Amino acid sequence: MLRTNTCGELNINNVSEKVSLSGWVQKNRDLGGMTFIDLRDRYGITQLNFNMEDHALLCEKARKLGREFVIQIEGEVVERSSKNKNIPTGEIEIKVTKLTILNNSKTPPFTIEDETDGGEELRMKYRYLDIRRNPVKENLMLRHRVSTETRKYLDSQGFCEVETPYLIKSTPEGARDFVVPSRMNEGQFYALPQSPQTFKQLLMVAGMDKYYQIVKCFRDEDLRADRQPEFTQIDCEMAFVEQEDILNMFEGLCRHLLKEVKGVELNEFPRMTYDDAMKMYGSDKPDIRFGMKFIEMNEVCKQNNFVLFDSAELVVGITVKGGDSFSRKQLDKLIDFVKTPQVGATGLVYCKCNEDGTFKSSVDKFFSQEDLNNWADTCKASSGDLILLMAGETDKTRKALSTLRLHLAEELGLRNPQEFAPLWVLDFPLLEWDVDTNRYHAMHHPFTSPKPNDIEKLDSDPAAVRANAYDLVMNGNEIGGGSIRIHDKELQKLMFKHLGFTEEQAKDQFGFLMEAFEYGAPPHGGVAFGFDRLCAIMGEKESIRDFIAFPKNNSGRDVMIDSPSVIDEQQLTELNIKLR
Ligand code: AMO
Repeated sequence: MLRTNTCGELNINNVSEKVSLSGWVQKNRDLGGMTFIDLRDRYGITQLNFNMEDHALLCEKARKLGREFVIQIEGEVVERSSKNKNIPTGEIEIKVTKLTILNNSKTPPFTIEDETDGGEELRMKYRYLDIRRNPVKENLMLRHRVSTETRKYLDSQGFCEVETPYLIKSTPEGARDFVVPSRMNEGQFYALPQSPQTFKQLLMVAGMDKYYQIVKCFRDEDLRADRQPEFTQIDCEMAFVEQEDILNMFEGLCRHLLKEVKGVELNEFPRMTYDDAMKMYGSDKPDIRFGMKFIEMNEVCKQNNFVLFDSAELVVGITVKGGDSFSRKQLDKLIDFVKTPQVGATGLVYCKCNEDGTFKSSVDKFFSQEDLNNWADTCKASSGDLILLMAGETDKTRKALSTLRLHLAEELGLRNPQEFAPLWVLDFPLLEWDVDTNRYHAMHHPFTSPKPNDIEKLDSDPAAVRANAYDLVMNGNEIGGGSIRIHDKELQKLMFKHLGFTEEQAKDQFGFLMEAFEYGAPPHGGVAFGFDRLCAIMGEKESIRDFIAFPKNNSGRDVMIDSPSVIDEQQLTELNIKLR
């Protein structure tokens, strides 16, 4: 070994020990008679002391060490005269007696410090240097702890980790596939899995009973802070279970992770139906760390000759506690915000509940003080609060108010990343209307079972059919989703029919699954967690990129290895691909 210890473990109890350390030069301070070097490895930083009087040659050599040089030293642990209480090794330093340069280094393109001067693109290009920085390294270590604890928990519950293939056939998760040409099967392509959905169901038919896999999934979709083209799922499936069993099992997993990794004890997770989530928060992934629940105001707002309200399908509001103090300028900014394409609203009505019991609204021309008092009663607003109202078509208005609610919470500092607010959202609709293709699509995927009592509505009112499908939401992010599956061949056929598949198409795409269902498929269901998202939330950050060792940028590029890239003619010919 090129070291007896790491740079993070020596302290006052090791004084007078002879040690050897290896690592990178973080800082080199030349004080004339003495040179101090901060030596860094994954475990921490230890100060090295080179003394001109004791070892002049060694000190000369140390002076010349550049940032990020890789060195090995030998020396004695001594107590420091000026101590640094901020780091575990801060009470000691190493009086160096031998220095070996293991490798030199070019000056890095950005400083390898917690606060760096490197922009994101530059840090992505030199990701291996970025990972040397504490914040990125710690994120990866958190990710490791989350995966280790996931394995421990699922193993303790009898789950078996099974790997499923990456070169498969298109899976029906709704995004575009990444495809891989097959050299041996001319003109044919594999698809990379959007999830192991069909395989985990086949594993249930195979009798594996409790399956899990921490697995890469690939989706060719537009990227955002919480989306990467390749991401990781904790993918799980269980046989002989009902929805309640799955909710309990995976609530247990989340509780275990938060406790072991963050030291946070979570109470029983609240549950809400999809319909209530949309009604109360305008979102299927509500952030319940703060209030501002929606209040429907049709009854107290309509029939006052105010056309915007009178012509609206829905008038809905939120109460901002203490919002009476918002200045005119702040309110105008909010109005501008709701008119941006991101929100897409036509406007915003406000009503301040003044401390003296009077009201000041942006629609005083149409509403009397008594009317406004009614608003305040309905909204449970008190003196000092602010009521904000939007009106229009139901779905659009709810969506716009939901965006405003989150924006306000952000501005008011109500989205505390150190607080963890999980929520099960249940009873999702089975189908959703797709305006582009003019037909219904499975909201989750085509294997999700409808609620038995709703099956008869498949023909008459497809939008009203609820599914045995659930999402786990944390702090306003969808971190997991799953369902109880259809295990009956006839019901699965019926579903394909309602999703607009001809028998031929269904057979072509999912014949293997339908056939497997003829050999005794047990009732089964499961869930998949977005592992990167879970890590980001546990790491109290917004972007999942920070928790992926080598992520892609917003255009889906890996700027470090410069991928995707063109391939040479010969490879194309072998694959029988002609570029236009
Ligand atoms: P779903 O499509 O809801 O379900 O995906 C499960 C979870 O994966 C995460 N996720 C993503 N994370 C990062 N980047 C992406 N592009 C991305 N897409 C999804 C989300 C999501 O909740 N087979 C089903 C699960 C099942 O039914 O068991 C599935 O994949 O956190």
